[in-house]
Amino acid sequence: MRYLIFAANWKMNIAPREAREYARAFLAAAGDLPEDRVVWFFPPAVSIEAVAQSIGGRENLLVGAQDIYWEPKGAFTGAISGQLAAQAGARAALIGHSERRHVFGETDEQTAKKVAAALAANLHPVLCVGETLAQREAGQTMDVVTRQLEAALAGHAGQARMTIAYEPVWAIGTGRNATPKDAADVHSAIRAWLMPRTGWMPILYGGSVNLKNVAELLAEPELDGVLVGGASLDPQAWAELVRTAVA
Ligand code: 13P
Repeated sequence: MRYLIFAANWKMNIAPREAREYARAFLAAAGDLPEDRVVWFFPPAVSIEAVAQSIGGRENLLVGAQDIYWEPKGAFTGAISGQLAAQAGARAALIGHSERRHVFGETDEQTAKKVAAALAANLHPVLCVGETLAQREAGQTMDVVTRQLEAALAGHAGQARMTIAYEPVWAIGTGRNATPKDAADVHSAIRAWLMPRTGWMPILYGGSVNLKNVAELLAEPELDGVLVGGASLDPQAWAELVRTAVA
């Protein structure tokens, strides 16, 4: 069976009380999801525990952190370690999201440390990679993506306990999504790079995914799921997207 991952990145939205209301509304609207799909929620750190408690132990639902710091504990004001996130109920962590890279200046080297830290804390890393518009137009998509993969995964040969999210920067929050073929071509090149090094991993696509375009994106067998920002913020609409994305 082909399993599909529907990952919701709430970014800097949805406080703890709202998160409990969201979870209630999502569970009611989603009903019993088909067994071929799982839903991952990435709330802001302050809401991880609220979501974890609200979705309680359901096998097809999981909560994760949007970012972690690489040290396990100590004097790092404002930072959250994998261990702290795990105790709040996180089982996964986004690493190297394009907003971390481009808004907060995160480097490939830091991303690599965070992947290692997530694994050490027993969190499933979701490594985000993707090129800017200028890089795509210069024909550098795979150079950039390969550099990001190489930096973050070099120390983890033979380990397939991760997920990759391909999110072209030019498609995030812009309403301009990659065509299914654009996405599938890059996924296939990423897969060819991964296979001899780490083995098979799920590869998600992200960037302006919504109710209207999700079915045609997931019609591409290269996509193992989607990572969704804006279109995951409303619980009913997100439940509908998950339920109806594939027949
Ligand atoms: P949008 O779905 O809002 O374009 O965001 C994509 C994203 O960055 C998910 O991580």
